[in-house]
Amino acid sequence: HGPDIFAVRGSLLDFRGDPASSENAHRWEEDGLLVVADGKVRAAGAYAALGPALEPGVRTIDCRGRIITPGFIDTHIHYPQTDMIASPAEGLLPWLDTWTFPAERQFSDSVHARATASFFLDELLRCGTTTAMVYCSVHPESAEAFFQESAARGMRMVAGKVLMDRHCPEFLRESAEQGALASEALIRKWHKRGRQMVAITPRFAATSTPAQLQLAGELARAFPDTFVQTHVAENTDEIAWIKSLYPEARSYLDVYERYGLMRPRAMYAHCIWLDDTDRARMAATGSAAALCPTSNLFLGSGLFDMRSADRAGMTLTLATDVGGGTSFSMLETMNEMYKVARMTGVHLSALRLFYLATLGGARGMGLEGTIGSFVAGAEADFIVLDPCATPLLARRTQRAQSLEELLFALAILGDDRVVEATFVAGKILHERKHSGHNATPE
Ligand code: GUN
Ligand code: ZN
Repeated sequence: HGPDIFAVRGSLLDFRGDPASSENAHRWEEDGLLVVADGKVRAAGAYAALGPALEPGVRTIDCRGRIITPGFIDTHIHYPQTDMIASPAEGLLPWLDTWTFPAERQFSDSVHARATASFFLDELLRCGTTTAMVYCSVHPESAEAFFQESAARGMRMVAGKVLMDRHCPEFLRESAEQGALASEALIRKWHKRGRQMVAITPRFAATSTPAQLQLAGELARAFPDTFVQTHVAENTDEIAWIKSLYPEARSYLDVYERYGLMRPRAMYAHCIWLDDTDRARMAATGSAAALCPTSNLFLGSGLFDMRSADRAGMTLTLATDVGGGTSFSMLETMNEMYKVARMTGVHLSALRLFYLATLGGARGMGLEGTIGSFVAGAEADFIVLDPCATPLLARRTQRAQSLEELLFALAILGDDRVVEATFVAGKILHERKHSGHNATPE
């Protein structure tokens, strides 16, 4: 019994570097072929080169006229906030009290958690996202439910139970020791079990005592290939609060560094109000920033300073931050990211936006070579994008004179309707109905 092989023919787009810093960062094969064997990429390249070399009888899916690119990677999202998306408040802190904490309370119930995780993962797949860094609630049951649903789909997911031991309702509070023990148990059960991976997840410095951050840092050292995720420098009221809680720290980010929480595979959401010293520490420690434009605009948090981040050499990734964020779609997130950069005098190319949503995310997570590109041996998580998914998109993309112009139209006008199919480890887990094309095998 040989390997299970199939191929997909269409226009291939992936990246080997950041288009902002190198000329040949992207690969575009107008008539390309992606060959998948046992859920991994066997080869990617020109159809003219790879097609004739295919073993006879290998099934080829015809996606000509569509773009095949790695599945999107969303580096910051909260699954317990699915049902409270689009809930307005005057800013981050009242939003947490009014909407977020009450919503997260329900995740002590495994049945509710499992049903919500199932919907959440299917919604990600509908939007073309195949990997995310996910916050569960404080309840161990919420993380267990999430991993069960993710494992059932075979998705590569990173998730953690939130750590909170102060400044939150009693129904979400635990002791520092309880939180550390539950996190360690989660790591031992789920980290690298199949495609699942665990993140140590102190929510933010305001809801953790120094003792809890200390224990989180010790876990991060004891399990160096796990992930760390938290929020930093999102909102000015939040920053003033952190300053009063940790007066000895040089900055908000410095609180985390003091507790050993800056390292490769540490993902810092927002990073809006960092200073240049903070930015240099992000780069030097190998930590990554998750940019969350729809959330930052919705909650009125601020505009990410891309120019300063690039000058410092920070590793950047793109994220939805649902339910502070207002869309599960990384295409809609690209659109908002473009506008935020525009407001700070920076032009973001479409190539860079697609990089940030794929290889950039993988690099920020220390998973380059595993996900985010079509390098041989990578896991076959990929999506089929239809540039003619809507009448307006068809009209606009047919007039595109360059790849950049085509991708730009997709980034600015696109949403879940563009995602014709989503493949996870070589299996089709989402196929859009009424797409007007036929993505079934020939
Ligand atoms: N800061 C602390 N918790 C949260 C959260 O759930 N969402 C966002 N956007 N910021 C936070
Ligand atoms: Zn968040």
